[in-house]
Amino acid sequence: MTMDWNEEWNASIKATSRYQLNSGSFWDGHANSNGSSSFSEAMTGDQVALIRPDPQQRVLEIGPGNGRLTMPLARSSSEITIVDPSAMMLRAVRTLAESEGLANLKLINEYWENVDVGALGMYHKLVSSYSLFMYDVGEQMRRMSSISDEVFLFVPADIRIPFDVQEILFGQVAVEHTDYKILSHIAREMGMAPRTLIWEYPNGPGFDSLEAAVKHCCDMYNATGSIGKKVAEHLSSTMMEKDGRFFANASRKVGVICWQNE
Ligand SMILES: C[S@@+](CC[C@H](N)C(=O)[O-])C[C@H]1O[C@@H](n2cnc3c(N)ncnc32)[C@H](O)[C@@H]1O
Repeated sequence: MTMDWNEEWNASIKATSRYQLNSGSFWDGHANSNGSSSFSEAMTGDQVALIRPDPQQRVLEIGPGNGRLTMPLARSSSEITIVDPSAMMLRAVRTLAESEGLANLKLINEYWENVDVGALGMYHKLVSSYSLFMYDVGEQMRRMSSISDEVFLFVPADIRIPFDVQEILFGQVAVEHTDYKILSHIAREMGMAPRTLIWEYPNGPGFDSLEAAVKHCCDMYNATGSIGKKVAEHLSSTMMEKDGRFFANASRKVGVICWQNE
């Protein structure tokens, strides 16, 4: 049986409740969290080195969040357009750009799916980093590719919900593949001939108690009520401990999917 990767993506978005993150108002509530860490700093460096912004080139970024990646791209590009449904996120990035005297930022307060790509013009580079939460992502990737010479997607390459936890939550494994694997297949099937790679980073500072680590995972898995209790019990026995800190995973993997149009 051949795999329908678009269906697998839709199943993953549903099972992991990530459709809730395709929401400007959800992200408005996170606009003032900086979230800087050794992981995010290392990833930013690697992303900028791969994207290679150029002072002669226009960049479009989908879902800039708090501008972690936007700012270094803005410093080295002729123009950067950012598309985000969260007005608060856009405001936070604009404030950062103004504080550095950067006048090359264009803001579009909209969901990518609703942007009229015909009105945007062409870009040299299009970037989406941890901002794909929409159903039917293949169509959105096609739209991205239609307006940019190069496309760079950065997505989790870790399985979202471990299989043993999925068994408790759904009674079976509902999503077998990582975002990275699903999107790599979709890009290949669309004929993008993508370059795909995984960056692995040591885990962050972890949690200072088992309870905090378990609560974090339950929130992420949307595990609530009596099933949430079962998941919490299970996680309490599987969480890793190192030097008095608690971790769900030994490392973090970031998937890179990029392609160039003729
Ligand atoms: C996890 S943050 C990513 C932040 C940033 N790109 C990074 O890598 O640090 C997700 C961002 O995507 C935005 N977003 C969510 N759904 C979106 C959509 N349909 N179109 C464009 N942006 C979206 C959110 O508002 C939020 O700012």
